[in-house]
Amino acid sequence: MSEPTIESILQEKRLFTPPSEFSQQAVIKSQQEYQALYEKAKSNPEQFWAELAETELHWFEKWNQVLDWNPPFAKWFVGGKLNIAYNCLDRHLTTWRKNKAALIWEGEPGDSRTYTYAQLHREVCLMANVLKQLGVQKGDRVAIYLPMIPEAAIAMLACARIGAPHSVVFGGFSAEALKTRLVDADAKVVITADGGFRKDKIVSLKPEVDQALANNGAPNVKNVLVVQRTEEKVHIEPGRDHWWHDLKAGVAAHCPAEVMDSEDMLFILYTSGTTGKPKGVVHTTGGYNLYTHTTLKWAFDLKDTDVYWCTADVGWITGHSYIVYGPLSNGATTLMYEGAPRPSNPGCMWDVVEKYGVTIFYTAPTAIRSFIKMGEHYPNARDLSSLRLLGTVGEPINPEAWMWYHRIIGREKCPIVDTWWQTETGGFMITPLPGAIPTKPGSATLPFPGILADVVDLDGNPVKANEGGYLVVKYPWPGMMRTVYGDPDRFRRTYWEHIAPQDGQYFYFAGDGARKDDDGYLWVMGRVDDVINVAGHRLGTMEVESALVSHPAVAEAAVVGRKDEVKGSEVFAFVSLEGDYEGTEALSQELKQHVAHEIGAIARPGEIRFTDALPKTRSGKIMRRLLRNLASGEDVAGDTSTLEDRSVLDKLRSSGE
Ligand code: WT7
Repeated sequence: MSEPTIESILQEKRLFTPPSEFSQQAVIKSQQEYQALYEKAKSNPEQFWAELAETELHWFEKWNQVLDWNPPFAKWFVGGKLNIAYNCLDRHLTTWRKNKAALIWEGEPGDSRTYTYAQLHREVCLMANVLKQLGVQKGDRVAIYLPMIPEAAIAMLACARIGAPHSVVFGGFSAEALKTRLVDADAKVVITADGGFRKDKIVSLKPEVDQALANNGAPNVKNVLVVQRTEEKVHIEPGRDHWWHDLKAGVAAHCPAEVMDSEDMLFILYTSGTTGKPKGVVHTTGGYNLYTHTTLKWAFDLKDTDVYWCTADVGWITGHSYIVYGPLSNGATTLMYEGAPRPSNPGCMWDVVEKYGVTIFYTAPTAIRSFIKMGEHYPNARDLSSLRLLGTVGEPINPEAWMWYHRIIGREKCPIVDTWWQTETGGFMITPLPGAIPTKPGSATLPFPGILADVVDLDGNPVKANEGGYLVVKYPWPGMMRTVYGDPDRFRRTYWEHIAPQDGQYFYFAGDGARKDDDGYLWVMGRVDDVINVAGHRLGTMEVESALVSHPAVAEAAVVGRKDEVKGSEVFAFVSLEGDYEGTEALSQELKQHVAHEIGAIARPGEIRFTDALPKTRSGKIMRRLLRNLASGEDVAGDTSTLEDRSVLDKLRSSGE
């Protein structure tokens, strides 16, 4: 295949070397040190991971084989026995960390709680015993449908403690979406709450559970455990529903951690595919524990003195790996926040940073763009001097958003780690190590040691520097997903057959286009399904969007392809503006010209539609599929249940008429 996958048009030349004060104190201190680790891992990945497994984790019994690779099925630390809840809690209790803050939680209405390691351990044991009392046994699946309250982390750890795989369902999902997931995972118990607080409103949860279970909707759910959060009145079905605070009062606070096999299933997490029903991504115990532990420790330079805050929801993989398991396994202090920027307090994030002296802050580009739109007076009004490191995840970050994050939040002294990874990969795959790797705005930089990532064509051959191709991983890693729950064949088809295996070499591909620059830095260019083909040039959405966002009037942009008789497709841009600007025809012309100037006439949008907001999923991903429908004047097809705000879609529809 000679045709490039995606053409690269954006040239970003700025380079930021780690401040020397940062490097000196960092876990990984220099590019040489990174290089040595990378080479060591590459020459013998099994030995590299085995040494870390030995030093970083507690095992009840050691493994007898590091990796059993039967493509595309991998087993790590075969025969090894451990418990991830033990690694996250018990092992810290015999150290000074016993009374260290494990979890700091801030509720949206302003209430807050802090749990030391000893206190968190006790809560987890209580919940584990309650689950046992409700008949949960090792291997049974438990669904967790909770707001961002400490009980979400407690529930996950309680399941892990007794060996019951959890399936966390994001609290923003509807009753219908919940039901599908309960049935697919064959869950036996649901842990939920009356509701939660989000953006100045009460989000109801228990009524959704009632609806999902109505008419025998999920026949194997025998019990529902309900946490009281909002104190709204909810229906309690006798025999089926139980208040957590009632049952908790009747159980012992001692519950030994179950001895788990390294490959025992830890959790299922559903990720929506572009078509068909959601895929249950399966992660197991030993490899996932090691991978989330090590990636967080090195990429976020985690120290005992840090107050680490990841703003994701526990309903996403980011919350699993980097609010709960990764930080606690490291004995860190992890902060959890129930709220989000809202009319009553647009600057709430900065209040939290100041209140707790947050040192590491990890969020998504979509959040950063919304901070930009709200205005820098909010962060400027707070003392953010405690921050020493920033992170981003979820989509390619536009260089302009990166620069704002660097200047306004990082005060030009905090390195930014742009972490590329996926639900499927379990943890970071491509990321700078902040004391070692100079960063470039918009690039996730280099692979984590032990990750053999490359950019290839459809035949699996590496493409030349600066040419676009498919981002693949060529060797198994401990945190990788093991299968699609109940559908191993779908696992093979979805991730391992896009690029045909050659001579026993398998390529993991999960949908992103990328290029490598002359320094070997990786630039993720977005999902290959979103590529726009203009007159035979395949453009990545991210680059055109970045060009638009670099104009002072533009707050956020999403581009899609619209059929064009001459060019095949043309670029159609949806644009939301900064506060002071109006969407006039003159501005539209100016923006088209701006894109042509920044990246070339080929990318010049054929049409620009101004909009207040873009349709996004609750995890902040723009739903380009809907925009493609709108751009071509079609009705919006397919599932829209994951939309954050449905009114955005209605407004967009009417603005096109
Ligand atoms: C997809 C995975 C992993 C946690 C959050 C999302 C995109 C993620 C980056 C990044 C460019 C990124 C990719 C990837 N993505 N991080 N740093 N730079 N793109 O998890 O929902 O499984 O989505 O998010 O397209 O494939 P997810």
